[in-house]
Amino acid sequence: MTNPKILVTGGAGFIGSHACVALIAAGYRPVVLDTLVNSDARSLRRVSRITGVEPPLVRCDVRDAAALDCAFAEHDIAAVLHLAGLKAVGHSVSDPIGYYDVNVAGSLALVRAMERAGVRTLIFSSSATVYGDTPRSPIRESAPYAAVNPYGRTKVMVERMLADLARADARWGIACLRFFNPIGAHESGLLGEHPHGPPDNLVPYISQVAVGERAHVVVHGNDYETPDGTGVRDYVHVMDVAEGHVAALRHAADRGGMLAVNLGTGCGASVLEVISAFERASGRHIALRVGPRRPGDAPAYWADVQHARDRLGWCARRSLDQMCADSWRWQLANPHGFDEREPALAARAVI
Ligand code: WQD
Repeated sequence: MTNPKILVTGGAGFIGSHACVALIAAGYRPVVLDTLVNSDARSLRRVSRITGVEPPLVRCDVRDAAALDCAFAEHDIAAVLHLAGLKAVGHSVSDPIGYYDVNVAGSLALVRAMERAGVRTLIFSSSATVYGDTPRSPIRESAPYAAVNPYGRTKVMVERMLADLARADARWGIACLRFFNPIGAHESGLLGEHPHGPPDNLVPYISQVAVGERAHVVVHGNDYETPDGTGVRDYVHVMDVAEGHVAALRHAADRGGMLAVNLGTGCGASVLEVISAFERASGRHIALRVGPRRPGDAPAYWADVQHARDRLGWCARRSLDQMCADSWRWQLANPHGFDEREPALAARAVI
């Protein structure tokens, strides 16, 4: 099949839009299914400016069985990348049922629609939060499930459901990709992360401090048992994560069963090290204040990445400095996200 069509749920989002770029580069044709609740359709026009191909958008909710059947009927889908879902840990604590509905019921509806359409190759975007906050690092895929919040528990439930499906029906080829901390942006500066409201995550927040939109970063605790006392995470370039999806797609299409794989660099970086890297990339000083620990934060975790190398032939290639340089390029070129407003134009509007 030339240029197989791949349904990308959540494909207008941060990781989804970068996955579309990687899919097109690898000879696939993405079809995006997205509600646009947490994303922007203009990201697909940016995908087109990068690749020359604008993925068609099916605007619907992944829980809508009839809309899913239409999408599979209209497009000759060969496989599915499932990235649509809610992903804010704190919000999942205050709205657990909303998270189980979208993340678990949504995944179930998708698998049912795939079965009806005879499509049985699925790449599921899971998360390192399935390991909970007490694992010893580097974390191997064999570490037990120990999610400590509703968001992480939705990922565990879907992984277990997919493992049972793969055991029951050998025609299914499934990969669960456990992202660590995806950051960065496409090197063109045309795609990136633009959170609605104050960013929860570290790097988008630092980026807004660097560009003068926020006064300082609050470092959530500097009394952890880590080299400089601040939290340590495995930051991985979003394009490496996107390319990891392509590698997993190739693997799942050729082999049945379910594979769970970490997507990380295998290296940890502290909050202060990330801030320093961003200062090098931007040439700007990042003001910071030390605050109390953030509830639910683990002191330190990073991935064991041997399994991804052995089974997918994938490893992260981009450095922390490149992640910060690519983030900064996106931030500078897109102060208003996907709005094409020129800052000068905005000023004239005020006058
Ligand atoms: C990283 C470090 C904070 C903000 C979350 C989700 C995870 C995944 C990635 C979806 C920690 C510190 C942060 C700030 C800070 N999302 N920090 N000041 O919490 O590791 O992971 O996003 O899959 O599921 O849990 O990422 O960027 O929020 O925090 O000091 O303003 O930066 O304490 O040590 P996290 P994060």
